Amino acid sequence: MTAIVFDKFSYAYSTGDPVLHSIDLTVPTGSFTVVTGPEGSGKTTLCLAIAGAVPQYFGGRMAGNVTVGGVKTTAINMADLARQVGTVLADYESQLVALTVAEEVAFGLENRGVPRLEIAGRVQQALAMVGLSGKEDNEVAGLSGGQRQRLAVASILVTDPDIIVLDEPASALDPEGTLELYRLLGELNKDHGKTIVVVEHHLTSILPYATQLVVMDNGRIVLDGPVMQILTAMVNCQLYAEAVPALWKLKFALEKVVKVSLSDWTSPGEAVIELKKLLASRKKGVAKSA
Ligand SMILES: Nc1ncnc2c1ncn2[C@@H]1O[C@H](COP(=O)(O)OP(=O)(O)OP(=O)(O)O)[C@@H](O)[C@H]1O
Ligand SMILES: [Mg+2]
Repeated sequence: MTAIVFDKFSYAYSTGDPVLHSIDLTVPTGSFTVVTGPEGSGKTTLCLAIAGAVPQYFGGRMAGNVTVGGVKTTAINMADLARQVGTVLADYESQLVALTVAEEVAFGLENRGVPRLEIAGRVQQALAMVGLSGKEDNEVAGLSGGQRQRLAVASILVTDPDIIVLDEPASALDPEGTLELYRLLGELNKDHGKTIVVVEHHLTSILPYATQLVVMDNGRIVLDGPVMQILTAMVNCQLYAEAVPALWKLKFALEKVVKVSLSDWTSPGEAVIELKKLLASRKKGVAKSA
């Protein structure tokens, strides 16, 4: 099953030239897809196209199709599409509208006419999933940046969408908040079967969870595939290579220069363990030959 399909999708905002050019992309159901690329390459526009806001809200001109759960985004209204796709915008603060944490999460359900009794239970569940249990009556304004970000995710989760799209969700978070957020998204993907699409520049903390990596440049998808394959191609073809974490650059350099074959690390922790083993075995080798 495919969650999202872009089929030769091109788009221009009403005020300008095309910003997406003949995008072909398949996001399988259950995928954890990371979209990266330089500033202005079209990542946010791609997210807006999945949510249907492009073109339904922004107008403009388009060609080709985007299909979500088998339905064209132009054939369904945005509210109905939002039942399948939850979107956390880059400026998620603007998505927070209520005074208290519980009211914020309940908002989307009240709008859909969900019975009051059911709302309370679902709010508790969504807050537990993002680690905000017990904060129901706290004021949204009094939460930390990381807590507000997780609240934005809870407000999406409560409506139980199959697909969650997040545009640079860690941009305002400290390293710990970032790790926590991505651990949460990893869990939602692995344990709850959510299809996740995340726009991210800083790849290190998201790599352990990603299954598909997409690199955009200038309105086009220039690379798309399994994570390790794409990281290698980014370095070899110098396509947004600056985003490849230093440890992985080191891995590729070692493999080339020292001619060792290293395993496919998914986290810095794994990298360090293997590099230590490699160093220890080399030292032994040197000691033997001495
Ligand atoms: N509402 C809009 N109206 C007109 N042009 C827009 C609009 N939003 C974005 N653009 C243009 O579309 C192109 C792609 O922008 P987009 O925001 O999708 O890129 P991005 O990869 O998300 O960039 P960033 O890394 O800065 O977030 C840019 O040239 C941008 O100026
Ligand atoms: Mg953007």
